[in-house]
Parts: sequence; C-alpha cells; structure tokens
Amino acid sequence: YLGLETEEIGRTVHFYESVSSTQKLAKEFALNGAKHGTLVVSDEQTEGRGRLVRQWYSPKGTGLWMSIIVRPEIPIQKTPQLTLLTAVAVIQAIEATTGLHPTIKWPNDILINGRKVCGILTEMQAEENRVQSVIIGIGVNVNQNKADFPEELQTIATSLKIEADKTVSRTKLLQNICYQLEQLLNEYLHTGFKPIKQLWESYANSIGKQITARTAKGSYTGFAIGINDEGVLLLKQASGEVMEIYSADIDLP
Ligand code: BTN
Repeated sequence: YLGLETEEIGRTVHFYESVSSTQKLAKEFALNGAKHGTLVVSDEQTEGRGRLVRQWYSPKGTGLWMSIIVRPEIPIQKTPQLTLLTAVAVIQAIEATTGLHPTIKWPNDILINGRKVCGILTEMQAEENRVQSVIIGIGVNVNQNKADFPEELQTIATSLKIEADKTVSRTKLLQNICYQLEQLLNEYLHTGFKPIKQLWESYANSIGKQITARTAKGSYTGFAIGINDEGVLLLKQASGEVMEIYSADIDLP
C-alpha cells in the first residue's frame, strides 16, 4: 500500500504513530524471525538513538524514522560495508526525490550545505559466527523548519524542506530509499563491494582533500586518499605514511 516498486525491502511494514525507537522494535522483530526486508517506521520516536549512545531528535510528523531488517549471506566482518551502502542509497533517494545533492561526511553522516540531514545506524545480530540479521536504521530530517530544531541543533542540522525550500513527500522519499537500497544490495551481493565503494567515495566530502582527523589519541592532518573495504579512512601524512583512521571527527579546512 506504500506504492513500493521493490520485491523484498518494505514488503512487510510495521507502521506506528509513536514508538520509543524503531531500531529497538526492529531488533525484537528480527529476534522473532521477521523476514528479510521487513520495515519498521514511526511518525515519532520518544527515545530515538544515534551512534555512540547519542540521542536522535525525532519529532512527530516531520521526519522519516525507519529501520529495515536485512538478512544478507555475508561474513560478519563485512557487515560495516552495509552502512556505506546505505549512505549511498539514501543519497540517491534524496537526489531522486528532491533534486538536492547531499554529501557524505565520514563515517556516515549525510550533509547538505555542511549541515546534517540524515544519520544512519546499523546494528548486527550474529549467532555461531553467522550473521542472523542486520538492522539498518535511517533518520532523515524532512519537513522541519529551522525554528523547529532545538537551539543546539540549529547550526549543525538541516532538513530537506529547508534546503529545497518546499515541503517534501515522506512517502516518496521512503519509496525511493527502499528502491535504491534493494538495487544496491542486489548489486553488492552479485558483484561485491567495489562499485559501492567507488560511489561512496564520489559522494564523500573529504576524499581527495586535506583534512584533520580528531581521534581519541590526538589530531592528525593529512590528505584523505579514500577508504578501504572495511570503511576505514586512509589518511596520507606529510611523511608519506598512510594512516588508518578507525574513529574520529573530521574537520575540513
Ligand atoms: C547517527 O547519526 O548517530 C545515527 C542516527 C540514526 C537515527 C535513526 S532514526 C530510525 C532509527 N531508530 C533509532 O532510534 N535510530 C535510528
């Protein structure tokens, strides 16, 4: 009934007016055997969660708060690739829905004009060394006005409506995200990570640039040459040495 053009992603939908977190709910559905492609979406989240135990602001009626259960047959160590794949899918869906051209800030923030419009959170459940399910959580700020954001978010967050200067259909965006995700997932399972990685790098705002990575151990400045197959950022320092950045906040000049 959502007008989806997919075969698996979003064919089973659990829709709510308000939940604590679609991510939490999807995890329960997954443990109870929900099938590949099951979508959980809510008009509001009262305890939306971001990465690194941060909160995710999820007001009623203006955002797209969704979690998708996938069950790909891939080794456990490859599941981080799905986060990068999702970022590419969401960017393509935003482009198709609005004509806007977002960029990716490593590792997985989606920005427009330097402000965050979407966050992605993927969580894996494994048993006996096999992937049981991966829950892909996607939060998109769609129709918020600037004044709707709490003050501390106003300079760092944005919405599609603010950037496109018009209201954007959440249903269309949802359809496009499901569609792009299914396309990319099939491509990935057939041909591997390479084409996805190239797309990801083409959307990333830091690749090919001089950046500073602020890590727990200190700040490192260098030339961001790309990512490896695990999504690790490769930073070429002045000495010529290539450093692997696993976790950091990135500053562009
Ligand atoms: C981040 O940038 O830190 C990731 C944010 C992920 C938010 C989405 S909204 C739908 C799903 N449910 C949650 O509680 N979180 C994710």
